[in-house]
Amino acid sequence: MLNPQLNRNGELVHLLSIDGLPREVLLKILDTAAPFTEVAEREVKKIPLLRGKSVFNLFFEPSTRTRTTFEIAAKRLSADVINLNVGASSQSKGETLLDTVDNLSAMQADMFVVRHASSGAPYLIAQHLSATGRAHIHVINAGDGRHAHPTQGLLDMYTIRHYKRDFTRLTVAIVGDILHSRVARSQIDALTILGVPEIRMIAPPTLLPAEVGKLGVRVFHDMRLGLRDADVVMMLRLQNERMQGALLPSPQEYFKTYGLTPEKLALARPDAIVMHPGPMNRGVEIDSAVADGPRAVILPQVTFGIAVRMAVMSMLAGA
Ligand code: CP
Repeated sequence: MLNPQLNRNGELVHLLSIDGLPREVLLKILDTAAPFTEVAEREVKKIPLLRGKSVFNLFFEPSTRTRTTFEIAAKRLSADVINLNVGASSQSKGETLLDTVDNLSAMQADMFVVRHASSGAPYLIAQHLSATGRAHIHVINAGDGRHAHPTQGLLDMYTIRHYKRDFTRLTVAIVGDILHSRVARSQIDALTILGVPEIRMIAPPTLLPAEVGKLGVRVFHDMRLGLRDADVVMMLRLQNERMQGALLPSPQEYFKTYGLTPEKLALARPDAIVMHPGPMNRGVEIDSAVADGPRAVILPQVTFGIAVRMAVMSMLAGA
């Protein structure tokens, strides 16, 4: 079966998930992003690759980093950006997601950037566009339910490559609420495709997916063992909004066992980097001394996110 994200020539037409993308496509996105980091250094921070194109930001869930960096990225590519005010949109009056999409398509949209609480919503939109003769409109998943957050996974890979160069010699530890995390799924997919030899999951049993054994990762419940000699430590937020029932005794108890403190970070390699997709919960999964410390690359992740999103949008547009 054809991957719905690729056309017959293997070119990216939607970005819905990292799962199933060839390594060459991931590397092409990272390579395309590299020169875009220089655009931000210029006096005029605009290039005309998406001039005349209309990018619709459809965020049905809150977002600070993703929505804003997609907007900046599209504007730096000279696209027209339309941010749908979801709270005031027709969805609150009972309109279906696909009817909303049909109406926005009738406004000559070229690209939809979609965040939705339901896993699969961007796939549904891409399928619908294809089935209704509008396959020329590209869909980018900006986070769907627990499923995937592909541009976050890609900007994380860009950050790792920037600091560590070679994926094939790394030990990467992902720590926290893996069960509810679309970011973790995209990170695991990307790290696996790019050939990282040791991927570790560090979490309490209640915050790991049942299928963790099939992911090809090493599982640790003891953070001190899991962090030992890691090159990259990727922290995750507790996704309280997606938790059903009490999975943890308390945030304080969680911090004692799984919070990243300077003392626990000392077990990783001396040059290990600390990443976090944001939003961070200080004192829950990460100590401020680490979050603001010299090993944290959390703010560079945000900056690289603009270049990576520029790369994805320009590749989709065939520019
Ligand atoms: N990392 C991330 O998706 O952050 P936002 O929810 O602020 O977009």
